[in-house]
Amino acid sequence: MTLGNILHMNAGDGESSYANNSMMQENGIRKAVPFLKQSIKGLAKHDVFKDCFTVADLGCSSGTNTLLVASNIIDTLYEVCQENDRKMPQIQVCLNDLFGNDFNSIFKLLPDFYEKLKRDKGESFGPCFVSAVPGSFYGRLFPDQSLHLVHCANSNHWLSQVPQGLENNGSNICMAKTSPPDVYQAYGKQYHIDFTKFLRMRSEEVVHGGSMILTFAVRSTVDPRKDDYYALLELLGQSLVDMTKEGMVNESDINSFNVPLYLPCEDEVRNIIEHEGSFSLDNMNGFKLNWDPYDTDYTNMYDSNELSRIHTVNITKLMRAILEPLLISHFGDSIIDMLFKKFGKLVAEYLTKKKQRSLLVTISLTKI
Ligand SMILES: C[S@@+](CC[C@H](N)C(=O)[O-])C[C@H]1O[C@@H](n2cnc3c(N)ncnc32)[C@H](O)[C@@H]1O
Repeated sequence: MTLGNILHMNAGDGESSYANNSMMQENGIRKAVPFLKQSIKGLAKHDVFKDCFTVADLGCSSGTNTLLVASNIIDTLYEVCQENDRKMPQIQVCLNDLFGNDFNSIFKLLPDFYEKLKRDKGESFGPCFVSAVPGSFYGRLFPDQSLHLVHCANSNHWLSQVPQGLENNGSNICMAKTSPPDVYQAYGKQYHIDFTKFLRMRSEEVVHGGSMILTFAVRSTVDPRKDDYYALLELLGQSLVDMTKEGMVNESDINSFNVPLYLPCEDEVRNIIEHEGSFSLDNMNGFKLNWDPYDTDYTNMYDSNELSRIHTVNITKLMRAILEPLLISHFGDSIIDMLFKKFGKLVAEYLTKKKQRSLLVTISLTKI
């Protein structure tokens, strides 16, 4: 089965669902709002849209974050139109994710979403049309020159496939500190292919002068070994290795498992955009987020024992909501509870020594 058929976040609205464990991503979405406003202002000023404003949210997943993005975009458009004494256009919001995404949960939130729009902005507002577009954003999703704005949050670090040539990665499940150089090269090469393709596909779909706002995780040094960028995945890998020692997981299953996730450095992103040539890079804004999205302490460099236990609960839920379907498809579902129990212990220990934070960037681009 291809990754496009396997990868999705935990569905529904249960305890382990993405919907209930995506506060960190929500924090990332909120950081992009000022750039959204800047872009929409530019689109209005240059008359890029007229009677209908078409926006795509790529890698939308399911839950409140999905419609938060749509609301942010609509509110900003409304504000910009009011400021410029401009008639509000009709709005088409296209929600994209892979085929296994829980689109049905989003549809169930739509009646309240439409109702709130009417209540807040009046009966004559819009109308706004929300639709779902399943498929990979590494392929074409929309007709030629049909989008005014593309938004993509917390998704571009997912690769289109597990890179080829990871046979030497042993029991590592990602670009770990102990991975050999050819593993780094294989991941970097796949990212280069994928991000170039992402830009090329969008360049055909976005109108001239249209915008893209992308928020994704990055690393801050060229050499990935210089910091613990992949620490959470390394701890998950360590938990799997511990389970092989206890006979709960086959070593060969770990050796053949690698997470298709890559954190580029900022220069890599800049170079690919420049080389591909369809978009100009207007802004790149980096920010850090605590692993536990409910943790507001950005000064301490490590946690007390008590705090590490509290933060670990939220971090474990976050990682489970993201990775459970991928893990189940490879290892089966019988190991999941134990795996995340072991993972939690390792995370708690780690946090008492170092409070590593995730680094993200928001970039805004204009179609040339
Ligand atoms: C961490 S979630 C982010 C969801 C949402 N944008 C947010 O910020 O809360 C990443 C999403 O990207 C989706 N995704 C990954 N690769 C994709 C691809 N090639 N095409 C479309 N969606 C993809 C995943 O299925 C997942 O729903």
